[in-house]
Amino acid sequence: MWKLTMLCVFCVCDVALGDKAYMFSKLSNKIVKAMDKEDIQIDIFPELPSKFLKVYYNSGARVNLGNELTPTQVKDTPMVYWETDFFQQKYYTLIFSDPDIPNRENATDGEFLHWLVVNIRGTMVPEADELFEYVPPAPIPGSGLHRCVFMVFEQENGEFDLTNVKGTDNRTIEGRELFSTNNFVIQNDLIMLPLAGNFFMAQYDDYVPSIYERFGIEMPTHGYWRFSANGMRLIPDYS
Ligand SMILES: *[C@@H]1O[C@H](CO)[C@@H](O)[C@H](O)[C@H]1NC(C)=O
Ligand SMILES: *[C@@H]1O[C@H](CO)[C@@H](O)[C@H](O)[C@H]1NC(C)=O
Repeated sequence: MWKLTMLCVFCVCDVALGDKAYMFSKLSNKIVKAMDKEDIQIDIFPELPSKFLKVYYNSGARVNLGNELTPTQVKDTPMVYWETDFFQQKYYTLIFSDPDIPNRENATDGEFLHWLVVNIRGTMVPEADELFEYVPPAPIPGSGLHRCVFMVFEQENGEFDLTNVKGTDNRTIEGRELFSTNNFVIQNDLIMLPLAGNFFMAQYDDYVPSIYERFGIEMPTHGYWRFSANGMRLIPDYS
């Protein structure tokens, strides 16, 4: 009993002494560490975020710094939140991509863009402009675990004018292939230091064929995807 009391007193002291800034830096280190461990800095973007991006799927799945989730668990558009100041009138861009195409070992075809939302006020993603509708990760059979990465950037020059921009729906593959988060950030004047991020791992499961069906292309059962000469179409490589 005495021991327990001592322990509690110690806990109270610990909490009272630990300041908020310290707790925060501990968490950001955790994000950077987890992303660094999986080479996200090398393969997606040179800067890593310090804030945790909450990503909730209606299946109950939660994205948590590299946990494994199945394509079935993440088939629907998730809810996404990050720490923000609504009064600052800032606009944000959310990018969700898979850099491991066709597989992590030989990612010759770079990133595939799964979701792109711009002009987000605060964290109001559903009210913002969805340039590419959400498509779940679609690792082909035998391609192992893919990193599926979310990052949020601040738009340096405020709202994008989308007068002549047409969105891409979830049945269209064009524009998603050979994506580069890095190029997108540079070309669209996003602030280089990502505000928030998170990632999970996914491998093939039996939901994946229906994603290719929606795209209207055949999914290879072995081998991996190769780009055709014009770089726009995926064709199965059975070699
Ligand atoms: C990656 O490429 C190397 C060299 O071409 C090959 O030996 C290896 O099997 C490939 N790995 C995968 C997972 O495709
Ligand atoms: C595709 O997007 C539409 C909205 O444009 C949505 O209603 C539908 O559920 C989506 N399909 C899938 C399979 O997520």
